[in-house]
Amino acid sequence: MARRLHVADAFEAPEDEEVELFGWIRNKRVHGGLVFLELRDSTGTIQVTVKRGLIEEGSFVEASEVTRESSVIVTGIVKKDPRAPGGAEIRCTSFKVIGKSIAEFPIKPGASVKFLLDNRHLHLRSPKVTAIMKIRALLTGLLHEWFRKNGFTEIHCPTFITAAVEGGATLFKVDYFGKNVYLTQSVQFYQEAAIFGLEKVYTIQPSFRAELSRTRRHLTEFWHVEAEMANATLEDMMAVVERLVGDTVKALAESAGPYLKILGKNINASIAEPPYPRIKYAEALEILRSKGFNIEWGQDFGADEERELSKEFDKPFFVTHYPKEAKAFYHMPDPSDPRVTLSADLLAPGGYGEIVGGGQRIHDYELLVQRIREAGLNPSDYEWYLDLRKYGSVPHSGFGLGLERMLWWLLGMVHIRSVTLFPRTPTRVYP
Ligand code: 4AD
Ligand code: MG
Repeated sequence: MARRLHVADAFEAPEDEEVELFGWIRNKRVHGGLVFLELRDSTGTIQVTVKRGLIEEGSFVEASEVTRESSVIVTGIVKKDPRAPGGAEIRCTSFKVIGKSIAEFPIKPGASVKFLLDNRHLHLRSPKVTAIMKIRALLTGLLHEWFRKNGFTEIHCPTFITAAVEGGATLFKVDYFGKNVYLTQSVQFYQEAAIFGLEKVYTIQPSFRAELSRTRRHLTEFWHVEAEMANATLEDMMAVVERLVGDTVKALAESAGPYLKILGKNINASIAEPPYPRIKYAEALEILRSKGFNIEWGQDFGADEERELSKEFDKPFFVTHYPKEAKAFYHMPDPSDPRVTLSADLLAPGGYGEIVGGGQRIHDYELLVQRIREAGLNPSDYEWYLDLRKYGSVPHSGFGLGLERMLWWLLGMVHIRSVTLFPRTPTRVYP
């Protein structure tokens, strides 16, 4: 009986072993009595040669007529051959079609970006997309591992919410049995409630932003890695972010090698090695003004500003102490300069910009009521959130990291949607 192997293991199998592989036909070339097939599975692609005379005639005909993307079972002998891609091939001894492709596979070399996105459900089979998804899964696993090792408890928060976390302009409205509710922009407030029991919590789940911005870094649905800590300052939060990013990038660089190779990419762990530079908003403003940006004090930085700013650095860097006007109401004003907040964004270098946003939260009841009012919001919409400040309140801090933003930066992709399975953007909710 031939061993049933995956493609990656077939490359490692001993010469002349008979193996059985299951996969899809990625390509076919016929040269008279010789058929070259590219067989693809989740682990890679291997060349299969089918020679008339060395295989039952029925199987040879089946192989020579097989259509692209048909699913098949191939049995054959492993042959090391430096001319074959990857240095080995399978000399076919038996060939069986499981599921025939009954129409011409629409994705062909040179297809446009739009066509590939319209056919994302089929494009997902490409080795490159597969490699990106493997890397995404590795990173997600590493993030979970890091939080657990460092004493954070994973919690799962609701997606339906009744009041804005990050400002009303980017809320998706949902009809909830006749009542207006929204899709969550961030689970931060629920995490703040949870720290009173669990102290350190984290979540990896989707957030939603009704942001019409057609940039290369905005999705309307993205995966948000959020954490909240009781008894923690802005400094504590930055220290956690620095270690989280530094450690996971290092571990990813060590484990993603085979997938990076398929993408022709490289992750150099030293680009995320702590410590990260820190600059205050005021200094960032000076840098931007010196580059010709006309920004008023208090304005938040947009994609253009962050791109230019982050070209000045070759490591991730923190921008801290944003003005109150630039940040959501819950940010703690700096006691030594109440015009600014104890906030920090982490920006990725090389033009990528913000990948983390966070800071210290207001833990004083009266101050929080005042800031809610100043933001033009109604304290009665935030009753339960205010309650948290009534019973044993504590200084606390947290942050949110965009999973796709991090991958987009690490893989150096042009557009953030490339790291999602089915991207959601202002112009795309299908497929
Ligand atoms: O800076 P943001 O809006 O912060 C919050 O939501 C906080 N409540 C998080 C917290 O403190 N718990 O979002 C955090 C991160 C951003 O830095 C970015 O990486 C990502 O979420 N993000 C997006 N990613 C893709 N597409 C979008 N439209 C994004 N909006 C935010
Ligand atoms: Mg932000």
